[in-house]
This record gives sequence, C-alpha cells and structure tokens, in this order.
Amino acid sequence: MTTITPTSKWHKNILDLDNFTRADIDSVMQTTDAMKEIMQRDIRKVPALRGKTIITLFYEASTRTRVSFEQAGKILSADVINVTAQSSSISKGESLIDTGKTLQATGADIIVIRHPSSGAAYLLAQNVNCNVINAGDGWHAHPSQALLDLYTIREKLKRLDNLKVTLVGDVLHSRVARSNIWGLLNVGAEIVLCAPPTLLPKIFIEAYPHNGKGSLTIEYDVNKAVKDADVIMALRLQTERQQSGLLPSLGEYSERWQITPKRLELAKPGVMLMHPGPVNRGVEVSSELVEHESSVIEEQVKNGVAVRMALLYMLLAGSKPNETSLAHS
Ligand code: CP
Repeated sequence: MTTITPTSKWHKNILDLDNFTRADIDSVMQTTDAMKEIMQRDIRKVPALRGKTIITLFYEASTRTRVSFEQAGKILSADVINVTAQSSSISKGESLIDTGKTLQATGADIIVIRHPSSGAAYLLAQNVNCNVINAGDGWHAHPSQALLDLYTIREKLKRLDNLKVTLVGDVLHSRVARSNIWGLLNVGAEIVLCAPPTLLPKIFIEAYPHNGKGSLTIEYDVNKAVKDADVIMALRLQTERQQSGLLPSLGEYSERWQITPKRLELAKPGVMLMHPGPVNRGVEVSSELVEHESSVIEEQVKNGVAVRMALLYMLLAGSKPNETSLAHS
C-alpha cells in the first residue's frame, strides 16, 4: 500500500528552528521514534514516500548531512538525486535561483540545500514552490542538526526539560550553535556559551530574545562553563571560515578550551559529550574522549538518519505518522 494520507498542514520549509513551537519539536521527536523503529527492522524500507523526488543540492562539502538525507529518502522509498556545485551547471555560472527552478522543473518535491552563504536557503525557498530544507547556510542555521541533537539528548537523558547545556568552541561561525540555541531555549534549557572572546562577542546573545523561557549566558572560562552541565556540546573549530586574528595558535586554543577528561569530571555524573562532526581530534575534544562512554557522537550520526526521515515524511505526508505508509513495502 503506497497511499499517503496527509493528516494536517505542517511547515512548508525547514529553514531554522526560530519559527518552531514546542509542539513542533515534540512532534518531530515522536515521528523520529517511529522512524527509528523502521531502522531497527531487518528490511529497512517502507513505501511512505514512493513516487516523491528529493534533490540534495550541496554547494559545500558534507558527509553526515548529505548521506543521511539520501539514506532517509531511500528508506522511505523516495527517489533521491544528489547535485553538487562542482558537477552541475552551477560550475558554469548558473545562479542559485535558476538552479532551484531547474530542479523544480525536473520534478523535485523537496530540495535539501547546503550553501556557504547565510540566507541562501531562504532565497531558494522564496523562489520555488517545492519544499526546501536548509542543510546548513553559512554561519546561520542547521536545523536538522539541532533536531537530531535534541533527539539524542531526549533518547539518552529521557527528557528535554531542566537541562544545563554548555556549548564550547567556535560559536561565532557555528550554524549548529545558532539552531541549537533556538531549539534549546524552546525546551527551557539553561544554555552556557563558551569560546575565546574573539569567537564569542558579548553582543551575540542579544540576537536571542527568549521571553523568560530558558536562559542564555556567556562564560569564557571553560572550567566554570562545564560545571554541573548535563550536556557538553563541543563545536568544530571552523578553519575554513576563520579570518586572521580571531584565534590564538591552535595549541593555545586546545590548552584553554579543549574538552579534556579532567574538564568532563567537572560536569554532572552521566554527562553527555556531543559534537556535530566532523571532529578535529585533539583540538575541540581530546582524542580519547571521542570514543569515551560519555560520548554520543556516533549516536548523533545514527539519529541523523531517523530525524531526517521524520522531516522528509512530515513535509510530504503530514505532521503525524500514518501507520499504513510506514508498514513494510
Ligand atoms: N554535522 C554536519 O553538518 O556534518 P557534515 O558537514 O559532514 O554534513
């Protein structure tokens, strides 16, 4: 049976989490639970999105996000086409809008876009009729990453409420941090940001009005920032986006801000260590912690597939899983 019965209208595009309600987040979490069940079956294939076409349009390198969207689409029986800037007419100078319209004309139901410019996913969404998912735009947003991070926290700690979450690293250039801040504030988390002052200007937090829900503070001393944290989220040092003068040497950065076993001990017992990847081992996180019992870095990648299945499904089939379309094909 291949019928998809839309259950209710949901978001048309997923561009960031600033327009997500708590109910939206909970609904993604619950749909992801259903998708994880499919991933545990012997035959990981359901007909839910048969006949739908998903195009990934990547202007920047990616392993986790691109592969997991492809895998997610294939498990749901959608046709998935991957387009990169290097191998398409973008390399001949075609504009983003023209490329988007071309992909739409070929039959795309969803375009998943990654682009080095902040706002690119919004520009695309304004110029095509199909659904758009932002898979990372410049420094700005990476909503599917933040949702998979929330899912991984909920899975491990069995809750999203009353959390202290410390984000340590290159906050300035991090779209992962920005989307996580919206998501974590929404669930009422106490968020602490920690980085060298050049990578975390005090004005940063003024961009996040949060109406008394959760809190957002800056702490430049990493030992204080991680104290009693439920979750430590290390952020990648984005060497491709650095301007000169923002960083001391890598050695000094690691000495003062790296998450080490000693610093991990300052957090709550059972603390979760997260990293969106790719990890610069020995820079943001000491190498032995990547496989440490507190690390959920591999779970984040696994959950990335299930969360992206949920997002594709919710955009194309409605906000709630339909049992028929999630049965075996
Ligand atoms: N976390 C993340 O976006 O990883 P990729 O760049 O490999 O997609």
